[in-house]
Amino acid sequence: MAKRIGILTSGGDCAGLNAVVRAAVLRARDGYGWTMIGIHNGTAGLLARPVEAEELDRRMTTSTVLRMGGTILGTTNKGDPFAYPMADGSRRDRSGEIIEGCRLLGLDALIGIGGDGSFAILRKLAQQGGIPFVGVPKTIDNDVAQTERAIGYATAVTTATEALDRLQPTAASHSRVMVLEVMGRDAGHIAIAAGIAGGADIVLIPEIPWRLDALKRKIDALKAEGRNFALVVVAEAVKTAEGHTVDADRGFGQRRLGGIGEYVGEQLAAATGAETRVTVLGHVQRGGMPGAEDRLLASAFGVHAVDLIAQGKFDRMVSWWNRDVIDMPLADVVNNAHVVDPAGPLVRTARGLGICLGD
Ligand code: F6P
Repeated sequence: MAKRIGILTSGGDCAGLNAVVRAAVLRARDGYGWTMIGIHNGTAGLLARPVEAEELDRRMTTSTVLRMGGTILGTTNKGDPFAYPMADGSRRDRSGEIIEGCRLLGLDALIGIGGDGSFAILRKLAQQGGIPFVGVPKTIDNDVAQTERAIGYATAVTTATEALDRLQPTAASHSRVMVLEVMGRDAGHIAIAAGIAGGADIVLIPEIPWRLDALKRKIDALKAEGRNFALVVVAEAVKTAEGHTVDADRGFGQRRLGGIGEYVGEQLAAATGAETRVTVLGHVQRGGMPGAEDRLLASAFGVHAVDLIAQGKFDRMVSWWNRDVIDMPLADVVNNAHVVDPAGPLVRTARGLGICLGD
């Protein structure tokens, strides 16, 4: 039977989102003869009246789309529909309007491409509205539970590694300690992976508490062996020596992290006397063309998400697990986090390479 499938992107953008949408449209249209409806700006498109959405046609299936960064559909990472911030400062439950938005579009099922925060909201909406729902994990942070990989992570790691490639020659030219602050709201996946790939000397991640004396020892040891520079990677969620995260309140009940790199840089300069410079990589990690690994993952996830709908399997998230594309219950994904395992392979590798992890 012909179906109308809605698809939306939710939360922060990342490289590879358009590749998922393209794959889902190809599979739905050519594999099953279904119609795909692209919803604009995540749940915000379903709140708007008229609902903001479009039928995704042949233009969406070109390989141009496969290569594009960002999300053609638009997204939002604010405005929880169950406690929506209103102009007068109050909060209102607008979930019913979103469910009504799905009905107005005549959707038989919905695919949501998001992170754990988005899945918690979308799952609740799906349950409340009886909407058959399938999730596709994305986030440069790679902190979605029940999948080894989320879309956008591999490209972000490449970008952070390239930043270290550029920082190293200037660090060596000026005999400086270069601190690179990378993203990762709750987890240090980008920091540890880019730190290893980019030859960092010190990597600080939120999963491993750090001490200044350990950092000083590492810098002193490098100096003693004749090294005139050092590369330090700090994940944005790393806490200060006093145990505080460095952030700025942005309203909407969300934290915006940033600034721990500067803090670590100042501490290092004071403790070692080294000339220190800090680079905050920020949203450079999110934008840009998806790398090959993200295009591959996105394509596999888009196809599998549509196949799940064909099989009548809902309330599930597609997942990359043990070199296979499978699906997991969303119940096991929400309110769970995938952080760096302090005893896992990347931490072991870093330690084996002599990278100081601050402990
Ligand atoms: O979750 C993805 C992420 O890029 C985090 O790494 C970062 O802390 C946050 O989003 C930034 O959010 P925004 O784009 O709203 O500043």
